[in-house]
Amino acid sequence: MHDRSAIATALAARIAAAHRVLVLSGAGMSAESGIATFRGGDHGLWARFDPQALATPEAWRADAPLVWGWYRWRMAGVRDAQPHAGHRAIAAMASRAEIAVVTQNVDDLHERAGSVDVVHLHGELFALRCDRCDMRAGEPPPRVDAAATERETPPACVCGGRVRPGVVWFGESLPEAAWRRAVAHAGSSDVVLVVGTSGLVQPAASLPGLARRAGAFVVEINPQPGFRADEVDLHWRDTAAHALPELAAALDAQLAEASG
Ligand code: OAD
Repeated sequence: MHDRSAIATALAARIAAAHRVLVLSGAGMSAESGIATFRGGDHGLWARFDPQALATPEAWRADAPLVWGWYRWRMAGVRDAQPHAGHRAIAAMASRAEIAVVTQNVDDLHERAGSVDVVHLHGELFALRCDRCDMRAGEPPPRVDAAATERETPPACVCGGRVRPGVVWFGESLPEAAWRRAVAHAGSSDVVLVVGTSGLVQPAASLPGLARRAGAFVVEINPQPGFRADEVDLHWRDTAAHALPELAAALDAQLAEASG
């Protein structure tokens, strides 16, 4: 039997028997939608751009138009991207099993694929808010064909503050409610699918270990595994867009067999 389908079948059996399943996703989840990951090769965002100059509160204070322009470029990239079969497979499996999604991604591809109740540990690109009074702000009209480093003055808030992206920058705390929910999901799930994260950024990287210590079966779906062998039960060396649809199909087949 093909490796991929053998793994999918075994894993689907665990999911069919599970009370709760957690999908913990990172940038690799969106890679096949054409959104760059942060690390890995010359194409990673942090190989091409300096995070200190673009993704910190200090950078915002020093040069808000540079930071805003870069995030507007990223917003345009996400607006152009579409969820892939892996995103859709997660949403489809959620109608068959109790599945929660906790993501480090600031894009909205899980939601656009149909997942509801997605926990965003690192914020959301489009949840714009004032840097002074915290009021939510709408997205300005899309910027067309602007370069990543083209400066743009951020919109002004009525209070006199500036509109900033809704993401968590280096040196900022994670949104408290999101973190609490992530920990609760990790502690109460029987199966955890860790998809497309290098496991290098804390505290998100601690969730698989936390889940495993609480008794979950932890599977890493990643062509280049990042977690240590003692942190996960199974490394599935495959991409999100290939592995997850296979898993959803195997789950469908098993549930159909069980009910027929
Ligand atoms: P990284 O860019 O660090 O890691 C991406 C991971 O995805 C790597 O392990 C790749 O091997 C894997 N990968 C690549 N393509 C894949 C595919 N098609 N299918 C499955 N996996 C694939 O991204 P994150 O771990 O998400 O934080 O990064 C964590 C945080 O670091 C981000 O949320 C961001 C960044 O700095 C903030 O901005 C606060």
